[in-house]
Amino acid sequence: MLCAKQKSIFINFKSVKCLSNVFSRLLSTQTVQNVINLNNNKYESDDYSNLTPKIMSYLGRNIYLQKNHPLSMMRQKIIKYFYQEYSNPKGTPLFSVYDRLSPVVSTKQNFDYLLIPPNHPSRAKSDCYYINREYMLRGHCTAHQLDLLRSGLDNFLIVGDVYRRDEIDSTHFPVFHQVDAVRVVHNDKLFKNNPDLEIFEKEFVNNDIAAIGSSDKCIDQVKQPCHTVEAVKLIEHEMKNVLEGMVKAIFGKTLKHRWVDAFFPFTQPSWELEIFHKGKWVEILGAGVMRNQILKRAGVDNSIGYAFGLGLERLAMILYEIPDIRLFWSKDSGFLNQFDESDLKKIFKYKPVSQYPQCANDISFWLPTELPIEAFSPNDFYDLVRNIAGDIAEQVTLYDKFTHPKTGRNSLCFRIVYRHMERTLTQKEVNEIHSNIGKSIVDKYGVTIR
Ligand code: DAH
Repeated sequence: MLCAKQKSIFINFKSVKCLSNVFSRLLSTQTVQNVINLNNNKYESDDYSNLTPKIMSYLGRNIYLQKNHPLSMMRQKIIKYFYQEYSNPKGTPLFSVYDRLSPVVSTKQNFDYLLIPPNHPSRAKSDCYYINREYMLRGHCTAHQLDLLRSGLDNFLIVGDVYRRDEIDSTHFPVFHQVDAVRVVHNDKLFKNNPDLEIFEKEFVNNDIAAIGSSDKCIDQVKQPCHTVEAVKLIEHEMKNVLEGMVKAIFGKTLKHRWVDAFFPFTQPSWELEIFHKGKWVEILGAGVMRNQILKRAGVDNSIGYAFGLGLERLAMILYEIPDIRLFWSKDSGFLNQFDESDLKKIFKYKPVSQYPQCANDISFWLPTELPIEAFSPNDFYDLVRNIAGDIAEQVTLYDKFTHPKTGRNSLCFRIVYRHMERTLTQKEVNEIHSNIGKSIVDKYGVTIR
């Protein structure tokens, strides 16, 4: 028997509770509103309401779905891995993906349905964004687990934004993104090669929910009382293999990892997977064998399952060497243009973006009639720009290309973003460089500036 440590990103009990009253008072001055309007729904505020306008401004940003965003790339890598790892006999993916579920959930979904006890620290007002006593912004994507199981799904991934009140520093932000997953296997499939084995211990075969209860206090790290050791070992083995495979698919085969015993109210036994990064063990996901009580409540019989949850930011920060979690929210094209999802295998290493302002100038020109459009490669233009502007040319993008319907002449339009790493550029010096680029392209290719 093991009383597993109470450490996880989910159990986030801080020692600054004494400050929380001061903060709630401060916050409440910004949140006095009797009715809160969210996603076309109205919620009555009460003494639990602590949403701020700032937090509400993140709703619907959906950066994890944004094209070429590093979080979206990490999301796609994980989904792709699961699609490849598990497929139906027909070759179609076994897992379905839910990535647009509203982050507004009931406290029942976020806590009760997952067997999180009423007095659990993760429910504290100081740690969650409550809309009112009944509704909140989800603190984890696990909040949708029971509903999806109830609707008959057995293999699924949930991706979305989650909200937790937290300090803001380079690795913490009150909004981040998670992938949560469930895989349920029926007795017949789990033991198809050993039909005399069973998922449940004999005395639990005709069980009711009350009889399956396992303790919230001191958790047996080997198994829940209702399960047979064989069933738990099989599902544990599959889960660990698949998740190790996933982190190796992301970070490479030579990655060092270890499983550490953990505690989650919704799984038993539970673990965290840690990877060795820059001389330290870093926790990257929580996982475990699903509590049978949850499966029972969802109407799933004679089955066992595993579940896990991970944070996309942490994985993306390690893989792409992104030093600050705030960068994910950047609208600055100097950050965003460093990533390109057309090649998911390519590892983009983040290059620091200057804090000095960008200055964008466009240039459009007609190609000479004798020069076919295919003969003019944008790469040539990029080199020409780099030759003249050097490092202050942060990005060059071809954003328009068309052929004149009458004359048949081809026109190209590029946007050049200038930025100096150490100082603010003046419009005058940018104009000068920009016009030199124009002159040079006229000289070299005989184009006509428009
Ligand atoms: N919800 C947990 C968290 O946010 C992570 C987690 C752990 C999800 C175990 C799971 C799981 O689905 O089985 O910290």
